[in-house]
Amino acid sequence: MSKNFKRTLITSALPYANGPVHIGHLAGVYVPADIYARYKRLRGEEVLFVGGSDEHGVPITIRAKKEGVTPQDVVDRYHNLIRDSFKGLGISFDVYGRTTSETHRHTASDFFRKLYDKGEFIEKSSMQLYDEKAGQFLADRYVTGTCPHCGNEHAYGDQCESCGTSLNATDLINPRSAITGNVPVLKETSHWFLPLDKWEPALRNWILEDHKEWKSNVYGQCKSWLDMGLQPRAVSRDLDWGIPVPVEGADGKVLYVWFDAPIGYISNTKDCVGDDWEKWWKDPETRMLHFIGKDNIVFHCIVFPAMLMADGSYNLPDNVPANEFLNLEDDKISTSRNWAVWLHEYLNDFPGKQDTLRYVLTANAPETKDNNFTWKDFQARNNSELVAILGNFVNRATVLLHKYFEGVVPAQGELQEIDKALIEETRQAASALTDNLENFKFREALKEAMNIARAGNKYLADTEPWKLFKTDPQRVATILNLSIQLCANLAIAFEPFTPFMAERLLKMLNAGSISWDMLGCFDLVPAGAKIAAPELLFEKIEDEAIQAQVDRLMKIKEENKLASWQPEKVKENVDFPTFEKMDIRVGKVVECRKVPKADKLLEFRIDDGMGGRTIVSGIAKFYQPEELVGKEVCFIANFEPRKLRGILSEGMILSAQDADGRLVVIGPQGEVRPGSSVG
Ligand code: 2FM
Ligand code: ZN
Repeated sequence: MSKNFKRTLITSALPYANGPVHIGHLAGVYVPADIYARYKRLRGEEVLFVGGSDEHGVPITIRAKKEGVTPQDVVDRYHNLIRDSFKGLGISFDVYGRTTSETHRHTASDFFRKLYDKGEFIEKSSMQLYDEKAGQFLADRYVTGTCPHCGNEHAYGDQCESCGTSLNATDLINPRSAITGNVPVLKETSHWFLPLDKWEPALRNWILEDHKEWKSNVYGQCKSWLDMGLQPRAVSRDLDWGIPVPVEGADGKVLYVWFDAPIGYISNTKDCVGDDWEKWWKDPETRMLHFIGKDNIVFHCIVFPAMLMADGSYNLPDNVPANEFLNLEDDKISTSRNWAVWLHEYLNDFPGKQDTLRYVLTANAPETKDNNFTWKDFQARNNSELVAILGNFVNRATVLLHKYFEGVVPAQGELQEIDKALIEETRQAASALTDNLENFKFREALKEAMNIARAGNKYLADTEPWKLFKTDPQRVATILNLSIQLCANLAIAFEPFTPFMAERLLKMLNAGSISWDMLGCFDLVPAGAKIAAPELLFEKIEDEAIQAQVDRLMKIKEENKLASWQPEKVKENVDFPTFEKMDIRVGKVVECRKVPKADKLLEFRIDDGMGGRTIVSGIAKFYQPEELVGKEVCFIANFEPRKLRGILSEGMILSAQDADGRLVVIGPQGEVRPGSSVG
């Protein structure tokens, strides 16, 4: 911490309530924010962890239209689902609010009005796309067209998802209304703009000079925005879903979703702490942190701070530890393509395994670059790290304690070098763990926590208490006392990462309340304390459970392929003489067999009306040889003969390729004499 702050306000991006949340959300934003909040609470610091749903914006209205329900119905459904998913995964928000709340309506409205009264907005008329058939302006995602940067034909009016460029609807080539499919026209409308250019020098100074410690991905993105030069940004839209612009004569206009959403952090704070809210937002001794994904950087580092500067009474964030993106099985996570692991489904499919997902997503967090989630890695990390290292150590320690001391912690005797080394190693790992947490390096922090368990396993393997009990029970007492102390250390070290396991372990140890200061202490469980019967903290995940998930994704991939299939573009025209050069004939399959050691090839003997010929064709994956015997097929009779696997192939059998890649042999619809020409 650069300054001496008294308390920490942690915000996490408000997810849009127009779909469920997935592992990308969790890895990028909510798990890191939760780890940090839990860590700070364990330090005894005053923390407020704010979350909530973002319930405005065009995508919600589009979904509502599609489903024939109201936008309020859509957000009610998803707000509850998202809130429950987060709760199920142990995300420890102090408040999970929503931007359709009364508090938020007032807060956002008042915020706008204050800036308006201070003259902080510019009111400007501009030409915007208008759908004459629908009778409405086409804000943001209501318009699609070709991206002027990369040529993607399905870019949205606010962003091209293919190249990531943020766009204005009027930038699109060949724009189309997403409501009616009509070509929109330009029509004049007036909006309020926040002049970001006015705040550019202050933002430049604040970020580029005063916050050089920000993560390089965040700092770099801010610098490139600032170096490009900031422009005024519209903060209102012509829409009927959102918070009405609180200005006379602004009928039909609402606050732009990105204006009201971050104010949601303030509204949700109010809903949580009531009149005390200003302490969290305006007291300079409060440290504010925004946990977000990389697509939100500009809004949290430039736009929202400019809004806060324009107001003049708020703190600015002290850090914005944004993450990159998580991919799923080497493909971009996508809500519209259903390419995701949805949290509510995970909770159903893997009951009681919340910690495994939290652990894997932290171990693999996209902290400095995009990262990949695979089910195989998920299984491997569960089985060979959580089960084989952490769970194994705790199990060995507690089982041995029950075996030799009936579960009662014996007193420590004199410490030997190996005992002191264990204590020292634990303290070093604990200190590295703390440093990494302070610096938002959660992957590294988790490695240090796991190193404590590794040290425990090594300690038991080296001291071999099971060989000593008969001859030296006092020595065994010391070893097991230290092992139980190490278990208590693990419960503390892992609490931010795997809180469900930590709670169970603490219960097993009969330990009271814990704090981060206790980390590295070896007197946490007093001699004489009785430890509950050992139970396994983690269980192996079997191949079948993983295969079921992989199969589900493969099925989705197939469905997506079919849904997006389009016929190939028609090739260049050819004239009749060129066409005539190709001699296509009908033939009857007389024999057909698999070509040995070639899994794609079938060898045909064809009655071609001219004495017969052999053709080798690459369709073995799609037909059993006997299926084709007696069938009539079309083949190119003057195709240059060539040898395939030592067989001379004299022609080519014609087949069509379906969307799923399947080859289907082409033949005449009625009986035709072998050798007949096709043309
Ligand atoms: O990108 C998103 O999902 C936005 N709904 C995040 C908003 S964060 C904050 F400003 F509310
Ligand atoms: Zn593009």
